[in-house]
Amino acid sequence: MHGDTVMLASRHLDSVVGFGREGILRLLDRSEELKRVPLDPGRLAGRVLGLLFFQSSTRTRFGFHAAMARLGGTAIEFDSSRYDPGMSRAESLEDTVRSISSYCDAIVLRHGDAECFEAAMAASSVPVINGGSGTDRHPTQALIDLFAIRSRIGHLEGLQIGLAGDLAGSRAARSLVRALRYFPPAELRLMAPADRSLAPPSLEGLPEEAVQRLDVLDVEGLDVLYMAGFPEGRGDSWMGEEMRAAFRLTLRKARGLRDSAVVLCPLPRIDEIEVGVDKMVQAAYFVQSKEGLVVRMATLERILE
Ligand code: CP
Repeated sequence: MHGDTVMLASRHLDSVVGFGREGILRLLDRSEELKRVPLDPGRLAGRVLGLLFFQSSTRTRFGFHAAMARLGGTAIEFDSSRYDPGMSRAESLEDTVRSISSYCDAIVLRHGDAECFEAAMAASSVPVINGGSGTDRHPTQALIDLFAIRSRIGHLEGLQIGLAGDLAGSRAARSLVRALRYFPPAELRLMAPADRSLAPPSLEGLPEEAVQRLDVLDVEGLDVLYMAGFPEGRGDSWMGEEMRAAFRLTLRKARGLRDSAVVLCPLPRIDEIEVGVDKMVQAAYFVQSKEGLVVRMATLERILE
């Protein structure tokens, strides 16, 4: 039901796969143009974006809000307090989306339940952009990741790419790997606790021989190290300190990176990257986050024009 290539209607952005290889490259090219001049206030003047976030977000929520403002449009935030369990007049997601879509030109939705995203697409009269759903999808994050890789390395194919952390719980990791089917890596090194790695459906379209699995962080020879994140709550998390230490990027381990390597992270950082790593030339995660603005501007142009 929530398969890799599903887009219930082409106007929605559910999965990065919906763009296709050429569509992704065009969007990255447009992001590159916007990076030079990240302001085009006539572009989406008068257009309205609804932001429906049922989970916390800093980068995606602020990023879409700022992107809309820089293109001359307006973003309206949804007050999710109506969904607090204590509220007596909770409304269904479908009714909420149906109402909001009559005021907006597009909606960005983040929801912990993937099925809810599908319900929202069915109920909406305007395009719905996936701002993160379930543990499987985060298409604009994948576009931002590809943009960060191409900007620094110059190309996307044939790279040695390592992903580390709680991969099973990371929709960002899954979305990036899904996009990599269009840009096959020479090596895809999955570094995760044995029961928290990525299963075959997420690896569809990738060359089997490229996939390596490790239960420890090993950065040697990588072009790209993607720190996918640890679960929150150090003390009470299923991922205890010993396991976290095995996958954490410490300054000592980071010194094993190639000079030309790129370290990415979707953020927020919990404790998967030592703060001391931030000053290393390979650490690109805060610039990656900054560039998310232009990628989201390019995405809004594509969806709304
Ligand atoms: N990378 C990302 O999605 O960050 P937020 O959760 O802050 O939006």
